[in-house]
Amino acid sequence: MYGLVNRAIEQLVVSLKGEDGWERVCQRAGWEDQGFIAMQTYDDAVTYLLVGAVSQELGLPANEVLKAFGEYWILYTAEEGYGEMLAMCGNDLLSFLRHMNHMHARIEVTMPHIRPPDFKVNELSDREFELVYQSDREGLAPMVEGLITGLAKRFNQQIDITQTRWRDAQTPQDCFHIRIKS
Ligand code: HEM
Repeated sequence: MYGLVNRAIEQLVVSLKGEDGWERVCQRAGWEDQGFIAMQTYDDAVTYLLVGAVSQELGLPANEVLKAFGEYWILYTAEEGYGEMLAMCGNDLLSFLRHMNHMHARIEVTMPHIRPPDFKVNELSDREFELVYQSDREGLAPMVEGLITGLAKRFNQQIDITQTRWRDAQTPQDCFHIRIKS
C-alpha cells in the first residue's frame, strides 16, 4: 500500500502512545523505521505487520485496531491535503459512498499504483442501504466499519452498521447493512 496509509498508522500510534509507543511498534513489527514516504508503495505485508504490532501495543484485537484506524483515516486525510476531495464527495453518508469509487479513481491520477477497493450501494429504503465492499486484500472489513463510522461522525449522522456477509474464496465481498437513525 502507499506510504500514506502506513504514515497514518504511525500518526495514530503517536497520538495515543507517543513516539516511544511508535518505536515499540516498529521493533515488534521488525521494521527499521526511516519514515514512510507518502507517495511510495510498500509491500502490503508491512501494513499487516504494523497492525499486528499496534494490536499488541494497545492490547486490542487487530479488528478493533482496524476499526480505530478506519475512523482515524477520515480525520487524517482531511488534514493531509485531501480535505477538498473529501468535501467534494458529498455532505451525507449515502451520497458520499455513491462517489467513493470515483474518488479513488481520481486519486489514481497521482497514485498510479493504487489498488483501491470497490464499493456498491444498494438502497433498501430512504434510510437504509446495503454497502457491498470488494477488495483484492483480505481482512480489511473492520477498517470499512471504522471508515463508515468516521464518515457518519463527519456528517453528524447517527447510524447502525451491521456486517451481513463475509468474503469467502468464491466471492471476495463483504456486505454491511446501514441504517440512518438521524
Ligand atoms: C481523500 C481521502 C482518501 C484517500 C487519499 C484515500 C487513499 C487510499 C490509499 C492510498 C489507499 C491504499 C491502497 C493502495 O495503496 O493500493 C486506500 C485504501 C483504502 N481506502 Fe481510501 N482513500 C481516501 C478515503 C477513503 C474513504 C472515505 C473510504 C471509505 C469509505 C476509503 C476506503 C478505503 C479502503 C477500504 C482501503 C483499503 C484497501 C482495500 O480495501 O483493498 N478510502 N485509500
